[in-house]
Amino acid sequence: MNNMLMDPYGRVITSLRISVTQRCNLGCIYCHQEGENSNSISEISPKTIARIVTAATEYGVRKVKFSGGEPLMRNDFEEIIAALPELKDVSATTNGVLLSERAASLAKNGLNRVNISLPSLNKEHYKFITGSRHGLPRIMEGINAAIDAGLTPIKLNMVLLKGINEFEIDKAIQFASRFDGNLMLQLIELMNFKNTSQYTVDIETVEKMLESRATYMYERRMHRRKKYFIDGVEVELVRPIDNSSFCANCNRMRLTSSGKLKPCLMRNDNLIDIHEEATVPEIKAMLERAVQRREPYYKELNSKNMILLKT
Ligand code: 5AD
Repeated sequence: MNNMLMDPYGRVITSLRISVTQRCNLGCIYCHQEGENSNSISEISPKTIARIVTAATEYGVRKVKFSGGEPLMRNDFEEIIAALPELKDVSATTNGVLLSERAASLAKNGLNRVNISLPSLNKEHYKFITGSRHGLPRIMEGINAAIDAGLTPIKLNMVLLKGINEFEIDKAIQFASRFDGNLMLQLIELMNFKNTSQYTVDIETVEKMLESRATYMYERRMHRRKKYFIDGVEVELVRPIDNSSFCANCNRMRLTSSGKLKPCLMRNDNLIDIHEEATVPEIKAMLERAVQRREPYYKELNSKNMILLKT
C-alpha cells in the first residue's frame, strides 16, 4: 500500500491506542495513565473517535485498542465501539472490575477481545497494588463473562513488582491454564512513572526462569516480544525499558482522552490537538503531522553515532 503513515525512521503505523478517559475505579501504585499528565477532564466524543479512526483506516490502520483510565468508566463505551468503521481487531484494556455487567453488550457492539490488568491473585497484594479490597472476585466474574461473550483470547496483564508479585508468576500460569486456552499471560516490565524504582524486578532472571520452564518459545515481530508456552499457557514477556528493538518495532499512534494525537508514550511535548469539529480530511493531515513527529525514545547508535533500527 502506498498510502501509509510512515515516520522518519521508516516505521509504519498499523494501530491506534485510544485512551477514552482518565477516570478509574482503582488506584494502582504503578499506573502510567498512558503517559497522560494533564488534568483535563474533557473526554473525546464517540463521533469524534469514529472520525479519527476512519481517517486512520484510510492509511491502512485496521487495529484499535482502547484504554484509559478505565474505559468501562464511560457509560457510552458501547456507543464508542458501535460508531467505529469496520476494523480487523478492536480490543480494550480493562481492570475487569466492571466487566461482568458489560461483556455481552460490548461484544454485541463490536468489541473483539479484552486485556485484563490483573497484577496479583493474592488478596492482600491486590489490595496493596490497586487500593481495592473488592476487585478480585469481580474480576473472576468478569473473566467468565468475557469468555462467555467470546471476547477471547483474553490477555492477563501482570506488571512485575519486586517484593510484591514477583513470585506469583507460577500461580498466574496455573490460573490461566484452567481456562482452556482462552487466557494468555503478559508479564510486563515496570515502567517507572510514579517513583516506583524500588519495585523494579530483574527481568533477565524472569526471562531465564521462563526459558527453563517453556516447552517452546518464539519471538513476535511486534516489539520483538518473546512468547513462551508453559503448561499449555502462552506467556509473553514485554520489556519496554531501555529496549531499542521495542521502539524500533513500535507501530502505534496514540490518542489521549482529551483528543490529542500522542506520538510516544514517554513524551508530552509533541502532541497534536484534534478539536471535536475536525473533519476526516483535517484529521488525516493531523495524522500525517503527528507521524512526522515520531521518534524512537530508546535508540541504538552505531560507532558512527547513526541510529540503527532493527525491523
Ligand atoms: N509499567 C508497565 N506497564 C504499565 N501499565 C500501566 N502502568 C504501567 C507501568 N508503570 C500497563 C498495565 C495495564 C495497561 C493499561 O498498561 O499492563 O494493564
